[in-house]
Amino acid sequence: MVSRSKITVGAVSTSSVPPASDAVRRVQYSALELRRSRRLQIMLPPAPTEIRTHRLMLRRWREADLPLFAALNADPAVMEFMPKLLTRAESDAFVDRISSSFEERAYGLWAVEVADGGDFIGFTGLNAALFEAPFTPAVEVGWRIARSSWGRGYATEAAHGALDDALGRLSLEEIVSFTAVVNERSTAVMKRLGMERDITGDFDHPALPVGDPLRPHVLYRLQRPGVAARQQ
Ligand SMILES: CC(C)(COP(=O)(O)OP(=O)(O)OC[C@H]1O[C@@H](n2cnc3c(N)ncnc32)[C@H](O)[C@@H]1OP(=O)(O)O)[C@@H](O)C(=O)NCCC(=O)NCCS
Repeated sequence: MVSRSKITVGAVSTSSVPPASDAVRRVQYSALELRRSRRLQIMLPPAPTEIRTHRLMLRRWREADLPLFAALNADPAVMEFMPKLLTRAESDAFVDRISSSFEERAYGLWAVEVADGGDFIGFTGLNAALFEAPFTPAVEVGWRIARSSWGRGYATEAAHGALDDALGRLSLEEIVSFTAVVNERSTAVMKRLGMERDITGDFDHPALPVGDPLRPHVLYRLQRPGVAARQQ
């Protein structure tokens, strides 16, 4: 069960944002269509400026985050299950792509900081999964947190905030998450969020070479309450 967290849209709470129409809901599933269609983009409720949870603030990225994020992307512990460490330029380019996602799709990976003046600790949020796989296109929830902030429940708490936004403002019917089979800390977050493993959904990530130990992936799904009943 996804817990509720305070979501701020400027000064307006999401409870006053009208529910998305069926037409909007359809395009939300097709991120490719959404990206190509400027006309449909304006039908989506805009992303809030920030999402607050009990201890955290999920917000848009700032210039000051860039060196901290680059350090995180260069940490072998954080990047253990990623294909490679990122250079500063690659890390900055990643943030550019995240910012574009917020503009083009009205969702993205939030910069996460500990509330009330705390540190930037990484990202959590939504991302369009557009690579070739049986379950794509889809919207995934993902996380990358600085090593010094692991073991405090921050990733799970931030993901609850992002999922509330996905199910509320965006009215998504399903959010997926996936990771390398060997990334047990990440699958533990998926389980804590109440996501369910789709045993038939295991897949080899096409961006990784055959034989790479990170290529086999597990797939977890979180459906909007009531979706399964409607599909029967
Ligand atoms: C995956 C990742 C985000 C998980 O971080 P995490 O800190 O283990 O996960 P959570 O935020 O859910 O924290 C849970 C832990 O905090 C503990 N905890 C401490 N205080 C807590 C609190 N107040 N509330 C909740 N949990 C708390 C829990 O007991 C749990 O500890 P455990 O790991 O010993 O069981 C982190 O390892 C990471 O960034 N890895 C690198 C990036 C990565 O692999 N991303 C996924 C790619 S697909």
